[in-house]
Amino acid sequence: MDIHAAAASPAVIRRSDYRVPDWLVPDVTLDFDLDPALTTVRAKLAVARNGGHDRPLRLDGDGLVPLEVKVDGRSLTQAEWHLEAGALILPLPGAAHEVETLVELAPERNSKLMGLYASGGLLCTQCEAEGFRRITFFPDRPDILSRYSVRMAADKACFPILLANGDPVEQGDGEDGRHWAIWNDPYPKPCYLFALVAGDLSCNRDRFVTMSGRDVQLGIWVKDADLPRTTHAMEALKNSMAWDERVYGREYDLNVFNIVAVADFNFGAMENKGLNIFNSRYILADPDTATDIDYDGVEGVVAHEYFHNWSGNRVTCRDWFQLSLKEGFTVFRDQNFSADMGSHAVKRIEDVRILRAGQFPEDSGPLAHPVRPESYMEISNFYTATIYNKGAELIRMMALMLGPERFHAGTDLYFDRHDGQAATCEDFVRAMEDGGNIDLTQFRLWYEQAGTPRVRALLSHDAATGRVNLVLSQIIPPTPGQPEKRPMAIPIRVALFDRESRANHGDETLMLTRSEQRFTFQNVATAPVLSINRGFSAPVIVDTNRSQADLAFLSAHDDDPFARYEAMQQLMVNVLVGQIGGQPVDESAVVDAVRQTLIDPALDSAFVAEAIRLPSEAYLGDQMPIVDPDAIHDARDALQHRIGAELEPLWRDMHARLRANSFSLSPAAKGARKLRNAALHYLVASGAADGPLTAFEQFDSADNMTERQAALGILANGESPERIAAVDIFYNRYCADALTLDKWFQTQAFALHPDTVDLVEKLGRHKDFTLNNPNRVRALYGAFSGNQWAFHHRSGKGYRLVADCILALDPINPQTAARLVPPLGRWKRFDAQRAALMQAQLQRILSQPGLSKDVMEQVRKSLD
Ligand code: ARG
Ligand code: ZN
Repeated sequence: MDIHAAAASPAVIRRSDYRVPDWLVPDVTLDFDLDPALTTVRAKLAVARNGGHDRPLRLDGDGLVPLEVKVDGRSLTQAEWHLEAGALILPLPGAAHEVETLVELAPERNSKLMGLYASGGLLCTQCEAEGFRRITFFPDRPDILSRYSVRMAADKACFPILLANGDPVEQGDGEDGRHWAIWNDPYPKPCYLFALVAGDLSCNRDRFVTMSGRDVQLGIWVKDADLPRTTHAMEALKNSMAWDERVYGREYDLNVFNIVAVADFNFGAMENKGLNIFNSRYILADPDTATDIDYDGVEGVVAHEYFHNWSGNRVTCRDWFQLSLKEGFTVFRDQNFSADMGSHAVKRIEDVRILRAGQFPEDSGPLAHPVRPESYMEISNFYTATIYNKGAELIRMMALMLGPERFHAGTDLYFDRHDGQAATCEDFVRAMEDGGNIDLTQFRLWYEQAGTPRVRALLSHDAATGRVNLVLSQIIPPTPGQPEKRPMAIPIRVALFDRESRANHGDETLMLTRSEQRFTFQNVATAPVLSINRGFSAPVIVDTNRSQADLAFLSAHDDDPFARYEAMQQLMVNVLVGQIGGQPVDESAVVDAVRQTLIDPALDSAFVAEAIRLPSEAYLGDQMPIVDPDAIHDARDALQHRIGAELEPLWRDMHARLRANSFSLSPAAKGARKLRNAALHYLVASGAADGPLTAFEQFDSADNMTERQAALGILANGESPERIAAVDIFYNRYCADALTLDKWFQTQAFALHPDTVDLVEKLGRHKDFTLNNPNRVRALYGAFSGNQWAFHHRSGKGYRLVADCILALDPINPQTAARLVPPLGRWKRFDAQRAALMQAQLQRILSQPGLSKDVMEQVRKSLD
């Protein structure tokens, strides 16, 4: 076999190939002798043949060498086992055996941050999706559920704290300054939920009494100096525990619940049973270093991981094609929790913005895949906005169609039926059908078909009959491997407004199930205004024939906050896209709508701040057949300037009035900061001579990071002595704190400034930049590749920078490298010159020998 051809074609795993496991592993005993340079792992697996077959036991391994293999206590000779693609193959005679293996690991050299690795003096693990096979030989698939007993031994001075899943059982001191601890997890779990942590950690301790009276010890473990920054996370944890009891009737099930924060982490956090491990950016927060967005991120991710205890751990996934079963549902749960903790209206607007910024582009590009994918090369590439955020929208649509009571009957049935099992998306849908009494046959297409549906709505009114006709039609665009689509079941919430009285004729959820469908409303005397996809009831793109006047009406009078926000956005999009396309639309409607919104006393500040914000450059790009980054930037900049200049006194007044007296996290205080930042933004955009100085003053005098970072960002977009000063001051003040220094990199990479691409190149060589920390990489290159105007610099420099980063990072951390590929894959959306430059960089990456599976899959698909 040609080795190069094999390396060039990673195997494709297909959903249809699923087979039940040949062997089960009811019990696991692990013994870790921990040391950053050399750790040994002794594993004892009780294995049981599953069904009548004579296939050998196959234990996955990645980079492991078996130093010892025993079966039922007898050491095997080398001839009695072999390795196949890293896996250990053992022919076993009987129905049940005990298999023991011994391996060595070097955690401090594990730069992939999968398996057991060292981070800032700690040893910790990350196993989802396939990291456990980097720790010990094991059937690494989520449908193998085992009971774990874990013994850890380590140097007591360096690693005084030893944590694992479940409950602590015993601990003691050994020889040579070492000590040990044993932890037991009574709940059978898949190996991706295994975790251990060893290190010098301090604990924020608290407790929670569950609804049945169980006293749970809570601990958030961090470096001692970070303890004061854990209070928000602890509040969030207790609120999440109470919320899951109140809303879903789900109670915590162990005596301890621990969270550990680590500085080097490939994504947000991980729901390991009883021992969640977090990227420190989703635990640590204080007013001086965390923005309101960061605080909300902490609350949301703490809740997300906690909620996984039921939606993910008690009921887990049969195979990785079912990933959205736990992720989509858990995102839906954390979104609703955060809405309950703050504002439903603003949370919905934010979540839709995230979906449109992250998932819609994915769904319309070369990496589009269904919420339940059919195949993958590397599962890590499928932790996507489609699986998470579109997945959450699917649950939301079912909840809408069922109503709250029947939805909860469905989720109760789901948890009861599948507790302790590895389930499928189909199991979830069936529980909704049985518990909620609904037929979801057609709705299942949402799991199967990729691509964002486009819904067209045409409203007509007949004054003579008082009848309104609404014709809805749907088109689901072709996506890779799915050229043709069937019509889906789409719940569209609509309302009709009377132009004169502004009355809402009534809210209705229409089910669009065919390619085209007509809905009729009676007794409507005058032509009404259509409010559609209220609350963003379906994750679709809606095209309507509504006039700018209708949109202006809705932006002032719609009683659904999302629809009101959306009308304003559409008003702005129409103006900007018209302008860019050389068909100018009158801008004054936008300026008027912004003014109306600002002076409406009934609106809260957070909503106002959302509503008056112009659509992002990337979102505008998504509305155009071919994205013109320069024209988009110029048009948006000009409109921003005009809104700024025409309403200057209002901005000035608001900016002065909304100055906070003391820091608080109340919704009102957060809203005031958001709106104050928006006011500063427009004031500077107006071109007022004192703009930069006002921004600098805010930067300098803020008692919180929300205002400080916003002011820095506003200054970074322009050219002024204040810009240079603020960038310097920020660096000197925060360079010792990694999470805050990330903001310094990120703010500069996000800057809408003609020199951003050169600045990013320079920052990539900064002494504080490192490829070894994923947060730092994302802060610089992740942010930059999301800055449409800068990344798509016509010279192609931006593409080269990101490709250089991918090539340098791939040998270190392929998962994080692969996450930088998608922006380069969007070349079909750009002009021929840019498209060629982007393709050339993808080709250059592909020609690198020894490319990881992760990057290879993403680059190949991106070139198709
Ligand atoms: N289950 C984790 C969460 O969403 C994320 C794990 C991500 N794993 C990965 N290989 N990307 O809460
Ligand atoms: Zn999750």
